[in-house]
Amino acid sequence: METLETRVAAHYTTQDLLDRIDAALSEMGVDTASVDDLKPVDEFHTGGLESTDALLSQLEITPETKVLDIGCGLGGTARHVVHRYGAHVTGVDLTPLFVEVGRALNARVHLDEAIDLHVGSATDLPMDDASFDLVSMFHVGMNIADKEHLFAEVARVLKPGGRFALFDVMRDDNAEDLQFPLPWSEKPESSFVDPATVYADAAEAVGLALHGQRYRRDFTLSYFAHVFEAIEKAGGPPPLGIHLLMGDTAGEKLKNYVANVEAHRIAPVEMIFDKP
Ligand SMILES: C[S@@+](CC[C@H](N)C(=O)[O-])C[C@H]1O[C@@H](n2cnc3c(N)ncnc32)[C@H](O)[C@@H]1O
Repeated sequence: METLETRVAAHYTTQDLLDRIDAALSEMGVDTASVDDLKPVDEFHTGGLESTDALLSQLEITPETKVLDIGCGLGGTARHVVHRYGAHVTGVDLTPLFVEVGRALNARVHLDEAIDLHVGSATDLPMDDASFDLVSMFHVGMNIADKEHLFAEVARVLKPGGRFALFDVMRDDNAEDLQFPLPWSEKPESSFVDPATVYADAAEAVGLALHGQRYRRDFTLSYFAHVFEAIEKAGGPPPLGIHLLMGDTAGEKLKNYVANVEAHRIAPVEMIFDKP
């Protein structure tokens, strides 16, 4: 039976992903990839590593911090957190292919002991109560219809004193329909882009307190202006990039994304919540 979750996983499933990543690495002359070599493809969100660091630098992460990355994709953020801070990271993602490729990449960079990746849903986390100090989430909420359920699960798995830090694409102040296809969905049926108030209300309902919020529209527009300029100058995208994760319509998806941001229909936003 088709459900939202099977539709979302199918959307992110593309043929021969690991082989295509390997072919791109060898085109770049990389024989043994490092954590950093994988960054162009494994941080599948606006701004890539730059925005991962922009959010993480607002948190206190130590080798003792137990981190859960929801919607971990290929595990790029998980590898970065281990590499940079020495923390132990668990990742969970709905798309079996991403978890499989993520585990293979963890083994390649010898981080398979420090990172556990699981197939599972954000709205039914296969994790124990009060087991994490930090839950992170990068560009996942756009595929989650039930934000209340998401926040209830995050509140359940966080320890008291823990934090939830997210960077999602949210509705901006222009209520016009979005232009599709988009990186997270070909069609409106699997897209659930909500305003920041929906996140704040869902958090409040489960006792999470809003610690901080940052609107990242200007950053996004300047980031993509540079990306498009580099693609035009080079006559195409670089061998390794998030286009490998978006199928034949990758260019159209990114152009629509930026057009929607320019028109104030959507904007990426960071939010950080505390569990008392
Ligand atoms: C745009 S990608 C971002 C991946 C990763 N966070 C990153 O930044 O590289 C969205 C990811 O969210 C996952 N996802 C969507 N809905 C989910 C859900 N309900 N539970 C868990 N993962 C989900 C998808 O499978 C996909 O890997």
